[in-house]
Amino acid sequence: MRSSFYAAGFLLAFGQAVMAAPTVMNCAHKLKHSIDEPRGWIKFAPAPASHKITLRVALPQPRISELEQHLLQVSDPDHPRYGNYLSKAEVDVLSAPHPESIKLVKEWFAGHGLSHSDIDHTSAQDWATVTVPIRTAEKMLKTRYHIWKHAETGELVVRTTRYSLPELLHDHIALVQPTTIFSRWSELKSSMFYENNGQVEKSLASSANRFYSLDDLQDDGDNEDDEERIIAPHSDCTRTVTIDCLMRLYNAAGYRPNPRIDNSIGVTGFLENYANIEDMKTMFQHLHPAAARSAKFDFVSVNKGENHQQRHLAGAEANLDIQYALGMVHPIKKAVFYSTGGRPPFNASRNTVRNTNEPYLEWVNHVLTEEKPPLVITTSYGEDEQTVPREYAELVCRKFMQLTARGVTLVFSSGDGGVGDGKRGQNHKCYSNDGKDTYKFLPLFPSGCPYVTSVGATYSIPEVAASFSGGGFSEYFTRPAYQEKTVSNYLKTLPEGLYKGLYNPAGRATPDISAQGRFFQIHHRGRWGSIGGTSASAPAVAAIFALLNDALLSKGKGPLGFINPFLYSKGFEALNDVVYGSNPGCGTEGFNATVGWDPVTGLGTPDFRKLKNLLESTNYKAPAVV
Ligand SMILES: *[C@@H]1O[C@H](CO)[C@@H](O)[C@H](O)[C@H]1NC(C)=O
Ligand SMILES: *[C@@H]1O[C@H](CO)[C@@H](O)[C@H](O)[C@H]1NC(C)=O
Repeated sequence: MRSSFYAAGFLLAFGQAVMAAPTVMNCAHKLKHSIDEPRGWIKFAPAPASHKITLRVALPQPRISELEQHLLQVSDPDHPRYGNYLSKAEVDVLSAPHPESIKLVKEWFAGHGLSHSDIDHTSAQDWATVTVPIRTAEKMLKTRYHIWKHAETGELVVRTTRYSLPELLHDHIALVQPTTIFSRWSELKSSMFYENNGQVEKSLASSANRFYSLDDLQDDGDNEDDEERIIAPHSDCTRTVTIDCLMRLYNAAGYRPNPRIDNSIGVTGFLENYANIEDMKTMFQHLHPAAARSAKFDFVSVNKGENHQQRHLAGAEANLDIQYALGMVHPIKKAVFYSTGGRPPFNASRNTVRNTNEPYLEWVNHVLTEEKPPLVITTSYGEDEQTVPREYAELVCRKFMQLTARGVTLVFSSGDGGVGDGKRGQNHKCYSNDGKDTYKFLPLFPSGCPYVTSVGATYSIPEVAASFSGGGFSEYFTRPAYQEKTVSNYLKTLPEGLYKGLYNPAGRATPDISAQGRFFQIHHRGRWGSIGGTSASAPAVAAIFALLNDALLSKGKGPLGFINPFLYSKGFEALNDVVYGSNPGCGTEGFNATVGWDPVTGLGTPDFRKLKNLLESTNYKAPAVV
């Protein structure tokens, strides 16, 4: 009797345990993240229950450090695996979440009525995206969404200051957004400006009238003002920069890429900035006739990015990037222009409020799905690092790493504000936004991600640092091993205690490399104009990299891929060191260009043929199947 009593009791207890086994849907919610009321934002109204919100769910990537180890080997010119980049499938495996995480997140979605077809995920399944009404999001995250209004700009976003997740999911979800990220993507800015007769003009607004028409060029003006407007294809790069003079200056003149080689270059566009084909053709007719008839690019839309070819909708940034990146590498087999949609509307009404988009994330997730992404991709946009939430910056940077592990070289402009706001005077904007208003320099993102190649600006012959050339030290990313020795040597040369507290001496330092960044002659909306900015330098460097890829691929070697370790360990010898100039900002004189690396011009400007010889003599592996 006794024993059966106990047996029954045991069964009962066991049965209860089964009944109570927690599932994603019945376990308790636990707080995942909360923030204080964000500065500068006003809680405007509850978010309408039926308003649709696109939730992005990041899953932890348990093997990501393994991927990083592979990347460090294949990008190290002294490693036997150098140049042997990974395939998409290999990167996807090493970037994937644990299968249990995928399963539990699916259960959670299903529990809220979301079926397989409602879920979008990235190629490694590390991000899942669902679009749901606010009322569903509020249940999933046990939170209340509000419309928040930015006090200064009137910008509206739908956000919350805290969210919870079922306890069982805490180890399986890294973050859910948009929730507590109040970053203002409107600050995403292109790093270019218009120049007028050599005067640097930072105004983007009154751009159109800074351009002069083709007719103006035919005037044989003999006064000095007009002289600068004459577009001379064979200029010497001192006051007018053209494709031809860049090719000569960077020792690539006469090099003709083989159009049959599987080589490619990509240009990114954001902020409704469209590359215009007519403008490009006219530019080439005058400055690169060989490219005028046949140069073309593929258009790729990301996140509903559009492609408007009406000339009045052309973007100067996009035109600059495409005209130089393409012009310098013609006749490359493939060129791509990515138009990425998404930025917050400035004056949306309560009813039309949209989600703030995260353009880099959208873009990089898209490119990671491509079987054959362009081997070099140039981006001339950036924003103050501190306006990008740290966890978000880290996740995006990691995505960039996934792309470089496949042999893609990512080139970013280093920004146009020197060490911060570009101003020597006292009226600087260089304060922390953490509520403490600490006076400090302003590093940029994504330039400060260690997996991208950051490009600063020079001008004139011999080359001098451009005073606006963005440079400094990230506060989010620590210094990568590849630049440790070089940068710490530089820091030892700084006057004792100078700028103490204004920058992070342990941070990833930028830029890595530089190129001309003033007086670029572009054709825009049917007229000629002169453009400056690290925006101009980035496509020029990207083009030189693409030419190097042509040389490597034609010898059966792998692409450059993640080029920074090579640049710091060997490549610097094949660069032109820039030793004059500085990048003032934040009420200081900024840093100086010096012998060797400096936070103004990086390691220097490229010498194509020297780099080519150096790369060809390194022990490069056969190309990976990208
Ligand atoms: C912003 O408001 C102005 C004036 O009300 C209007 O003309 C404009 O179209 C609005 N822009 C957007 C993007 O809604
Ligand atoms: C830059 O050079 C000037 C002149 O030599 C010097 O006074 C200043 O301290 C230097 N600044 C830095 C950051 O090295």
